[in-house]
Amino acid sequence: MTDAAMMKAVVFHRYGPPERLSLREVPVPRPVQGEILVRIRATTVNRTDTATLRAHPFFARAMTGLLRPKMQTLGMDFAGIVDGLGVGVTAFQLGDRIFGISPDVFGAHAEYVCLSADGPVARIPGDFRFDEAVVGEGAWYASSTTGLLSEGQRCLIYGASGAIGTAAVQLAKSRGAEVTAVVGQRHLALAERLGADKIINYEDENFTEIGETFDLVFDAVGKTSWFACRKLLKPNGIFTATDLGPYWSNILLGMWFGITSSRRVRVPYPEDPPGFVRHLANLMAEGRFRGVFDRSYPLENIVEAFRYVETGQKTGIVVINVQ
Ligand SMILES: NC(=O)c1ccc[n+]([C@@H]2O[C@H](COP(=O)([O-])OP(=O)(O)OC[C@H]3O[C@@H](n4cnc5c(N)ncnc54)[C@H](OP(=O)(O)O)[C@@H]3O)[C@@H](O)[C@H]2O)c1
Repeated sequence: MTDAAMMKAVVFHRYGPPERLSLREVPVPRPVQGEILVRIRATTVNRTDTATLRAHPFFARAMTGLLRPKMQTLGMDFAGIVDGLGVGVTAFQLGDRIFGISPDVFGAHAEYVCLSADGPVARIPGDFRFDEAVVGEGAWYASSTTGLLSEGQRCLIYGASGAIGTAAVQLAKSRGAEVTAVVGQRHLALAERLGADKIINYEDENFTEIGETFDLVFDAVGKTSWFACRKLLKPNGIFTATDLGPYWSNILLGMWFGITSSRRVRVPYPEDPPGFVRHLANLMAEGRFRGVFDRSYPLENIVEAFRYVETGQKTGIVVINVQ
């Protein structure tokens, strides 16, 4: 590769709506020591990308840049081919088919990205295609809740049709938990296919009135609250959520319960991204995890993909194909 090598990348310089994104020609990055150059074949547009583009919630700017974004290219999920090796990289070889997440620097909405070889990246197991391997974002967030479950525990997952919810059902089952999934009419068959033990159609039935109790209730779409769900919880049961909740109630209640020495409300943040991606690769290899995919767009139409993801109506994952 020469100094003049250029690539297509989707860039943005100011927070705001999807129209702030534009497809540009930029130099191909060069891997430094310990990095791999990944030729991206598939990525996703997910709720992390849309929230980061809009700097929502506002305090997220503490990490992503106060006035302007620190990173110019979004894209957290990637699948592609190792196309260059920095000094000292031994874990991967040129041509390896890999996938993973880039939660700190993003950068996958481009033809190439440089990432740490020690980071959240693993070889794609078996014969998963690139567009079937971009499964990390939702699963990683889901793992922060499903990691609280032990074998035989009962959990209810509200919103089991999104990227996080579909992953949560599979990860909870892989931990031996009993799963009740709450979805709308159009996702009943999906929830069954994912292995949920019981399925509730929230359009037909008020799931908070089913008269059962759970070790864990997970609001996987930020559409309910601890107040609505508290009678579903066993005495030591935990309520977790992906979002702050009405009037930041999930954060405030989490702090309150922390002070009173119980941890009954949490907005958990996932840890150990490299370890999680390796675990996910194992689950995929064993046939215990498969992404749920909605639709795909070419990189050139990424603005349209952002608009669709922002509707909050996607089923699982929206893929961007990068050729
Ligand atoms: N701030 C961040 O950086 C960040 C990052 C990632 C995720 N999150 C949060 O995590 C949550 C989940 O993310 P995601 O990517 O998994 O979401 P998603 O894929 O966009 O979720 C969409 C799904 O939720 C279902 N849904 C919509 N309204 C519902 C309701 N009232 N009850 C039950 N299901 C409903 C939709 O189907 P139906 O409408 O047909 O039911 C759709 O299948 C979001 O609330 C997002 O804000 C935040």
